[in-house]
Amino acid sequence: MEPSDMGSDLESVLLTEQQIHDRLAELAAEIERDYAGREVLFVGVLKGALMVMADLSRAMTHSVETDWMAVSSYGSGTKSSGVVRILKDLDRDISGRDVLIVEDIVDSGLTLSWLMANLASRGPASVEVCTLLRKPDAMKVDLKLRYIGFDIPNEFVVGYGLDYAERYRNLRVVGTLAPHVYAT
Ligand code: XMP
Ligand code: MG
Repeated sequence: MEPSDMGSDLESVLLTEQQIHDRLAELAAEIERDYAGREVLFVGVLKGALMVMADLSRAMTHSVETDWMAVSSYGSGTKSSGVVRILKDLDRDISGRDVLIVEDIVDSGLTLSWLMANLASRGPASVEVCTLLRKPDAMKVDLKLRYIGFDIPNEFVVGYGLDYAERYRNLRVVGTLAPHVYAT
């Protein structure tokens, strides 16, 4: 879905498809350099990281192993609470593995903080994070994020995997919604 297909639902475009594509290619090159000679396991966090995983992993020049987790963070509406439940766990054992968590967005950081601790308790060789987006003004915990695509303002965004009520994940860009969308 293109921005022009959004009609009046889209308020502004924060990141174009090209900007996202170029930045993920840079991050993939960095990841390849940093993990040279090691086999990194990409762990995508469903569902938002769907597009990031697809483009980041395809920007790599060698085969990478991928796995997925689904977690739900209890909280009302668009705010997370840090109380997390695993909806789908990894399919494999990660002990001794170099794990790279692939995320769409780090907002308060509460979900990721929980996830990093959970994965760390399984005895991996390392756990690092690659997130397309970060909202620095919203972060409530101090997290070490190794790879960050873009810092964005503290506004609710959709597109490129990010949803509002399960919609707009298929929008090619990252943008904000017009107020009337939330009102209905
Ligand atoms: P926290 O606050 O725990 O949030 O870092 C993590 C999860 O909340 C969702 N989230 C968003 N989803 N637009 C979205 O579509 C946003 O602006 C946004 N901010 C947070 C997302 O699932 C993220 O993994
Ligand atoms: Mg997410």
